Amino acid sequence: MLRPASQPESLLLSPAPGTGAVGVSPLGVGHAEPCVVVIFGASGDLTHRKLIRSLFDLDRSGVLPKGTVILGVSRTPMSDDAFRDKLAPSARKFSAAAGAWGKAHDDAWASFARRVHYHAGDAAQLDAFPALSERINALARAGGISRSAGAMRSIAPVSAGVRKCPCAASGSPNILFYLSVSPNLYEPIIENIGASGLVTEGKRWCSIDPAAHSWQRIIIEKPFGVDAASAASLNRALGRVFEEEATFRIDHYLGKELVQNILVMRFANAIFEPLWSSRHVDHVQVTAAETVGVGSRAANYYDSGAGGALRDMVQSHLLQVLALVAMEPPSRFDADAIMREKIKLFNSAMIAGADDAPRLGAFGRYGPDAARHEPAYIHEPGVDGARATETYAAIRLCFDNWRWAGVPFYLRSGKKMAGKLTEVVVQFRRPPTNMFRTLGIDFEPRPANRIIINIAPTEGISLRIDGKVPGSAAGEGFKIASAKLDLDYAKTFGGEQVEAYGPLILDAIKGDRTLYKHRDEVESSWRICEPFLRSDALRRAIEEYPAGSWGPAAADALLIRDGRAWHNPRPDEVR
Ligand code: BG6
Repeated sequence: MLRPASQPESLLLSPAPGTGAVGVSPLGVGHAEPCVVVIFGASGDLTHRKLIRSLFDLDRSGVLPKGTVILGVSRTPMSDDAFRDKLAPSARKFSAAAGAWGKAHDDAWASFARRVHYHAGDAAQLDAFPALSERINALARAGGISRSAGAMRSIAPVSAGVRKCPCAASGSPNILFYLSVSPNLYEPIIENIGASGLVTEGKRWCSIDPAAHSWQRIIIEKPFGVDAASAASLNRALGRVFEEEATFRIDHYLGKELVQNILVMRFANAIFEPLWSSRHVDHVQVTAAETVGVGSRAANYYDSGAGGALRDMVQSHLLQVLALVAMEPPSRFDADAIMREKIKLFNSAMIAGADDAPRLGAFGRYGPDAARHEPAYIHEPGVDGARATETYAAIRLCFDNWRWAGVPFYLRSGKKMAGKLTEVVVQFRRPPTNMFRTLGIDFEPRPANRIIINIAPTEGISLRIDGKVPGSAAGEGFKIASAKLDLDYAKTFGGEQVEAYGPLILDAIKGDRTLYKHRDEVESSWRICEPFLRSDALRRAIEEYPAGSWGPAAADALLIRDGRAWHNPRPDEVR
């Protein structure tokens, strides 16, 4: 039995400022003020591969507010200079300048590196916070970051059992916390940040001049919980310390150009929206295929009960992409309006019943990769085959609303697939009648019109239409063939490909949550995925698929049952 998801309470209200629910416009949004960016997990992979290089790229392009400093926090003792030296090769390798690195980039790095600092401490322990707070405040003072320096006092030592710091009401500088640590450390660190008194953001709402007060915000990485209950618990922990407006749940897919362009395509053009409904759309496919395997991430994350393709990709990235494709038009381009429409869409999803999950989903895990001499998933180091963790997941989803009733949305994601591909296929219905039948032309063999939004590796949009083959005439072999209208983003608009993290971090510095997720979005997307995650039958039926293929046969069967097929691109095809 399918049932519509329930409507969370916060959606029903247009709440008062400071309550944290949808409908609140954050103050000072849109202006990038200097701040201390505190990265918890400074020695981690994400910091090295994505965060520092993104901040460096922002600095190079002159948009990182003057005075902003970065403080990496990790347990390993290290000096500022040692930390900078460790980061330098990653910047060279991963920044947008990689490949064309020259003297100018060396100079830019040297200037940026002066903004980067390091603090050794275990942020999961409250007694690490007095020293950390002292360091944050000192950096802020040195950089002229705090607007109410007189109000700042150094933090008093936290004695055992005292959960509130005496300086809680004294004001803190602008701080952007970034949680890039193992998910089991999220809650302790958030709690400690709260107890340290560093967060005074909430007091902005009750001041005569809120804009004169500093802000403290937090970016939190995925995985955001492992199911709806754990996500709700994490949301509560965040809510005890941060306003919802100060909480930035990151999804790097929302920072991708083409994902944002879905909104532009749909709502800056008048020609698509009239077609965008069950009247004209047959079905929609969202695919995120990767050629890489899980490798060393298996032991600590992927096979730990927190990973698997459904949790890792579908619940987060793919549902976000789908939301932008399927939501109603927001009234304006701002965080509240967009989040409200996404939540409304998720809450109209038909949640699969326990018995439906095996029919509406398919799980697979990759076999050995002979070409690369890499093992099957079950033989990756640290994997327990009995867990049946999926490296491929496909689900079929429907929405119980006027626009999409009866239109299936198929989502799939897999590792070790035939190609690296992230795309949305909007497949239209055939024309209602075939006037060319008198010429012996059959519409059936060719797919009907479709729009493909290519998100990666190339960015573009293509529209597949039928055209008359030139030269053929009525009665003499009149022929119709498929052709493609193509918009290649890079060729048309040019410019450097931007790493998704940079613009997202800058948005958080500006207080703009448009490309971040509201707590209700996260919880409802878990509710959509839970029946599949919990289905023993689905997990028992997990299939091994050949590395380098398009996934398990059960996923093909999911569409074949509906008389449809996945769009598995071939090099020679008209997409
Ligand atoms: C991450 C997942 O969020 O996204 C990874 O944890 C995945 O497993 C990655 O490889 C894919 O991102 P992208 O931008 O390469 O499609």
